Amino acid sequence: MDYLLHGGIPKNQLLLLTGTAGTGKTILCCQYLYTGAKKHGESGVYLTFEESPEYIKENMNAFGWDVEALEKEGLFTFLRYDPYKIEDILEVLESTIKEKNASRVVIDSVSALGIHIKDNEELRRMIFNISLTLRKLNCTAIMVSEIVHGQPGLSRYGVEEFVSDSVVAMYYERLQSTFSRSIQVWKLRGSTHSEKLHPYDISRRGIVVSSQEEAFVKRR
Ligand SMILES: Nc1ncnc2c1ncn2[C@@H]1O[C@H](COP(=O)(O)OP(=O)(O)OP(=O)(O)O)[C@@H](O)[C@H]1O
Ligand SMILES: [Mg+2]
Repeated sequence: MDYLLHGGIPKNQLLLLTGTAGTGKTILCCQYLYTGAKKHGESGVYLTFEESPEYIKENMNAFGWDVEALEKEGLFTFLRYDPYKIEDILEVLESTIKEKNASRVVIDSVSALGIHIKDNEELRRMIFNISLTLRKLNCTAIMVSEIVHGQPGLSRYGVEEFVSDSVVAMYYERLQSTFSRSIQVWKLRGSTHSEKLHPYDISRRGIVVSSQEEAFVKRR
């Protein structure tokens, strides 16, 4: 990913990670926080609206990522929010980031907010406010959204790509009788980036992007 992003996610910026269901967005986010904590000693906060921390941890263990050890060191913190009860979310997100001195943050995913907030205007404001909170706290963050099959655009609510500095999209598409996984950087504020669609695998080591290869997919 660092090769595709010509050096990685720019510090203190917000990246939208989008893609269809099951493309590996959650795995990539776990990998991002795990690597930051394990290799660079950077504290990470994972705000999850969908899967429980227990479930995510179980999946992380399957990749050999011992997240519990990092939790004990205070380098990995899960924040679980029921999408029906999000009134104080901005305050809790802010205080957790400050308390843990987090420099990496994941929001997985804003798509779930629509369960609680039915009004589109209000929903967009909430997504915008989350982005403002992340910017104010000087952390590098990934916000997850989804590409809905058969619907145009890069995100669930059509606002996520505009409040984000950068956009990365993951695809899982049928190519004759097999499915192929590919990833692409759509925009990256302040930097050039790969303009190709690259294949990736979900291996025992997590997401492995073939940065030197081009993916062949059926374009609609
Ligand atoms: N241990 C594993 N080894 C290899 N592949 C795995 C493993 N665990 C999950 N996968 C693959 O990853 C996919 C799910 O990844 P993930 O949950 O990160 O997707 P997602 O994009 O977050 O999905 P959603 O949109 O439902 O939240 C599965 O469909 C499976 O193909
Ligand atoms: Mg997910």
